[in-house]
Amino acid sequence: MKKRIAVLPGDGIGKEVTRGAVEILRAVGERFGHQFSYSYGQIGGGSVDELGTPLPDETIELCKGSDAVLLGAVGGPKWDRLPVHLRPEKGLLKIRKELGLYANLRPTLYYSSLADSSPLKREVIEEVDLLMVRELTGGLYFGKPSERMKQDGRDVVVDTLFYQKSEMTRVIKLAFELAKNRKSRVTSVDKANVLESSRLWREVAEEVAKDYPEVIVEHMLVDNAAMQMVRNPKQFDVVVTENMFGDILSDEASVLTGSLGMLPSASISESGPYLYEPIHGSAPDIEGQNIANPLATILSVAMMLRLSFGLEEEAKAVEAAVNEVLKSGFRTKDIASVGTKLVTTTKMVEEVKATILDNETIQ
Ligand code: NAD
Ligand code: IPM
Ligand code: MN
Repeated sequence: MKKRIAVLPGDGIGKEVTRGAVEILRAVGERFGHQFSYSYGQIGGGSVDELGTPLPDETIELCKGSDAVLLGAVGGPKWDRLPVHLRPEKGLLKIRKELGLYANLRPTLYYSSLADSSPLKREVIEEVDLLMVRELTGGLYFGKPSERMKQDGRDVVVDTLFYQKSEMTRVIKLAFELAKNRKSRVTSVDKANVLESSRLWREVAEEVAKDYPEVIVEHMLVDNAAMQMVRNPKQFDVVVTENMFGDILSDEASVLTGSLGMLPSASISESGPYLYEPIHGSAPDIEGQNIANPLATILSVAMMLRLSFGLEEEAKAVEAAVNEVLKSGFRTKDIASVGTKLVTTTKMVEEVKATILDNETIQ
């Protein structure tokens, strides 16, 4: 199979983890006889420095002409004081909008070998398998106006939470569709006791639920959901929520696996190409030290193989290799625990790669 992959490393550890993930794609290509080609594009702070914009048109064109997009992360303290249109994060929001990536799938999976890496008790996190479906191109992130202004001589600020009903419907529908192939449970998270947007969200969820009688639906207020996520995460199967709630809850959910460095994501559009990225950021505190966990990005590659290319066997091979390497005790610093082998980012990638290439047990 021939596929064109756009690679946008971005800033900080984004560069380190995408380098590793591309190596894994190369290994998959070699082992399974596929021809993947890689074209690199600029995004984020580095792009602002070099080209004066966080997302040049060439990158948008590159992505639109590719079969899938792999992204690292953007941002960093160097660019935190720039005017809003030059912020690295604007580049990320713009590429999501340009590609119509309305749903961001963030799976959280329990790895038995990582039970000691989580600050939560084993019995709480054991067998957790939840899928966060985060609306990605609406809500507060894209509301207009979003600005500071003067009102009667006072400094005021406004951010706008805007949604079209149709934007709610399509992402909630997707969540129900995905639930059908899982444990048939959807938890719709909102703040319907306060926000009008959440009251509409809940109505839409109830409306959509009527078409899926086989799926159990539950509505949960977001503050309770944040608490339930660490108290009893096993109750969740598919969690669907608006953009900002999903951003916050998924970072929280990552702790169930042991680290933010373990959570992959896939961003879905109506017509493709889809975009794959770890849920974490550019981690300026550990950048350049070769200690970042590359597994979230490697697992994002597995999602790419499955969802964009239909390569289920290859996706499973990557996931199995990650599992095996963890079982063998290899750990980057964020998931290290007593009795495990501390390794660098590059060594972790090498181990996963070698397992994909050599392991007879991986079909
Ligand atoms: P972050 O996700 O970059 O880091 C939070 C903490 O988790 C840090 O201590 C970091 O060292 C650790 N961490 C994150 N990924 C890790 C990995 N793979 N391995 C080991 N440890 C890891 O969040 P932040 O510090 O709040 O934000 C830093 C910058 O990243 C900001 O500019 C922010 O806007 C940006 N950001 C970008 C994205 C993205 O591009 N998708 C996502 C989140 C944050
Ligand atoms: C993420 C990030 C982004 C978001 C930021 C960097 C704009 O936190 O991908 O989760 O909030 O969506
Ligand atoms: Mn986030």
